[in-house]
Amino acid sequence: MKILVTGGAGFIGSNVVDAYLSEGHRVTVIDDLSSGKWENINRKAKFYLLDIRDRATLERVFEKEKFDIVNHHAAQISVPMSVANPQLDADINVTGFLNILELSVKYRVKKIIFISSGGALYGEAEEYPTSESYPPKPLSPYAITKYVSENYLYFYNKQYGLDYTVLRYANVYGPRQIPHGEAGVVSIFMTRLKEGKDCTIYAFSDEPEGMKRDYVYVEDVAKANILALNKGSLEAINIGTGVATSTSELFNIVYETLSKSTKIAKNLKKPKSGPERPGDLRRSCLNIAKAKKVLGWKPENSLKKGIEKTVKWFLGEDY
Ligand SMILES: NC(=O)c1ccc[n+]([C@@H]2O[C@H](COP(=O)([O-])OP(=O)(O)OC[C@H]3O[C@@H](n4cnc5c(N)ncnc54)[C@H](O)[C@@H]3O)[C@@H](O)[C@H]2O)c1
Repeated sequence: MKILVTGGAGFIGSNVVDAYLSEGHRVTVIDDLSSGKWENINRKAKFYLLDIRDRATLERVFEKEKFDIVNHHAAQISVPMSVANPQLDADINVTGFLNILELSVKYRVKKIIFISSGGALYGEAEEYPTSESYPPKPLSPYAITKYVSENYLYFYNKQYGLDYTVLRYANVYGPRQIPHGEAGVVSIFMTRLKEGKDCTIYAFSDEPEGMKRDYVYVEDVAKANILALNKGSLEAINIGTGVATSTSELFNIVYETLSKSTKIAKNLKKPKSGPERPGDLRRSCLNIAKAKKVLGWKPENSLKKGIEKTVKWFLGEDY
């Protein structure tokens, strides 16, 4: 198939590009490199350095390339940035996405795979682990844009018959993650520990172990994107593990894995604790029964295994 991956120079998008290419698909990447990197872009992919808000240039690419599938990973991903500048956030995540939708209809794209966020969308959910039927309670402009985009997909399907699958990710980690963004804690801990800096575990006073999150390895996430090419029509599907891990537990796994490397073991420091930050969710964990049923997908890497692979990448070893 001929696939466009927007945001294909970023952390998750570039891993998805690699997975599609290894399955024999033809892949084009569009990315403005605002947080993505040149070195992440697979050389077998065609690359356009382009902002999805640039409608005229975007149209020329759609007209020329005639994609079968659009996989939309490009986004402004910082929750604090979305709070500080909701207009800019909506400009990229909503107006930019509308360009993609309009051009997908015009140039007869068969399906859009849209990347949403389970963690952000469900907020402080009462149902836990949270399933897709839980009513979204977005607590940030970033989460609102994801919810709005899902609703636009519903409309574009009803109005124009455009097929779609929404993948609602949990907290993704793995090779190429940079230490910022929605779920960068694994990368933050690794980077700071390696540099001999202090790490802080932010926690509510009644839960000193820290907040609970559902950490899913990027290679497993990429596999879900392969399955979504042919399955999951008109569905929103959680992609996580269903396992909640506290920040302290996560820190310990990262610490122990890094301590096996003689190069940096001497630098490692035990963590400090700090109070919760504004907007921190106490807990977030996704029910993944639907992904198993609809996509035939389940995560194959435990957190320990995924962290081991990520540490190898981080240290420049084969993983
Ligand atoms: N990291 C997570 O745990 C997580 C969780 C839930 C959802 N997501 C979603 O997954 C997707 C990828 O996130 P990521 O963690 O890989 O972040 P990332 O920042 O590495 O990837 C985003 C990519 O989009 C590109 N981009 C941003 N604005 C653009 C624009 N206007 N035009 C063209 N390209 C643009 C960036 O340069 C970058 O390469 C995003 O949609 C994000 O909301 C991520």
